[in-house]
Amino acid sequence: MISRGRMSRRDSLKWMGMNAAAAAAGSLPAPCRVVTPAAPAARERGIEPQEAPELIADRERRMQWWHAAKFGMFIHWGLYSVYGHHEWAMEDEGIPVAEYEQLARQFKPKPNAARAWAWLAKRAGQKYMVMTTKHHEGFCNFATQLTNYCAPRQGPGRDLVAEYVEAARAEGLRVGFYYSLMDWHHPDGARCATDEAARRRFVEYTHGLIRELMTNYGKIDILWYDVAWPLDAAGWESERMNEMVFKLQPEIIVNNRNGLPGDFSTPEQHITAAEAGRAWETCMTMNDSWGYQRADDNWKTTKTLVRNLVECAQGGGNYLLNIGPRGDGSIPEPSIERLSEVGDWMDKHGSTIYEAERCNVNRSVMAGFTRHGNRLYIHVYNWPGGTVAVGGLKTKIHAARLYATGRPVTVKQEEFRVQFTGMPETAPETPITTIEAECDGEPVQDTLWVRECRPRRGVGV
Ligand code: GLC
Repeated sequence: MISRGRMSRRDSLKWMGMNAAAAAAGSLPAPCRVVTPAAPAARERGIEPQEAPELIADRERRMQWWHAAKFGMFIHWGLYSVYGHHEWAMEDEGIPVAEYEQLARQFKPKPNAARAWAWLAKRAGQKYMVMTTKHHEGFCNFATQLTNYCAPRQGPGRDLVAEYVEAARAEGLRVGFYYSLMDWHHPDGARCATDEAARRRFVEYTHGLIRELMTNYGKIDILWYDVAWPLDAAGWESERMNEMVFKLQPEIIVNNRNGLPGDFSTPEQHITAAEAGRAWETCMTMNDSWGYQRADDNWKTTKTLVRNLVECAQGGGNYLLNIGPRGDGSIPEPSIERLSEVGDWMDKHGSTIYEAERCNVNRSVMAGFTRHGNRLYIHVYNWPGGTVAVGGLKTKIHAARLYATGRPVTVKQEEFRVQFTGMPETAPETPITTIEAECDGEPVQDTLWVRECRPRRGVGV
């Protein structure tokens, strides 16, 4: 039997096969270019490229809402939020465990702090939330029978995960749980790598905590594992872990950080699309810290955040954008400002993101692109003046307009260039203006074709 969340060798071969097929299908053969024949399909090479169809169908069904959601809020909150030096402080500053544990008594968040997070997430156009239930520091934000190092038995005096779940649901947002396998606090957290009895104890502890999370909070939409150090999938018994998770939560989706491929990949702090057919989500901080670091002022601009969201949607992926609330649960003001501004933009342009399908068009120094069917959305972040040009578009455009206002835009299309003209000299929208172009087929761009095939002239002028 093939279990869900497992990546067989067959699956990885399938991905490689799909990749080659996508590359072959990606651009139309240019008349002046020598076209290299596509590699024979995996099936022709005698390799079975298919994951079991019922598993593919099951994953597609479970992930439908997530693909439509596109944009989520990550929340890093724990004892490190009280300390305010980034969530890696315990290790990076070499803090003794007994000293770090004192933070658990000082952690006194205001009641229902998560309501403001959920409100802000909704305001920003985010459709789901993923909160740290236990980060590397080992402190459990939830009620557990397995350790006293948990919110109800320490400073908070209550179950913070329960409050979070309730807050997310109240705003109609999907609920995700982040869970770090690596644990800097548990006595077996490191020695499990070399001591089999310790490994068994620690795996039972870990599976036990996950079982509680999957049992005590109703329907959970995402389980977001993190850092598998110091074991591999066999050591964590990750297949058994996922089987338990799916048994308790048949609709859940899981990521790929317990050593198995799970349902989606998780590029971190960079936007790199996975091969076609594989779901992916870029997770990113708004400054340089996941957990609250009071002195970190390296904030991304709202324009960068919207550009990133566009870039993820262009590649068929999701964007999970982090906030690091303080120990009292309050959100740093720069995050509130930026998410509110992203929300203003999403109020007008949201459907160009939510409805986006993987888009072949991606080259410009002034714009990002998304696509829905034959509609191309040109998200201009460096507004050049009254004319915006895109090179190498191989699809005919028959109409265009400014997306936010519907104001028509004149299209001048030549073989190698399309120009959108007669637009205002200064950007009509902030931080990004979107032009909607109706194409007569799925838009395809090939700028190499421009380089190779655009007629040249003699060396004399
Ligand atoms: C890394 C970091 C961790 C953070 C995570 C988010 O794994 O160790 O602190 O929670 O990235 O993706």
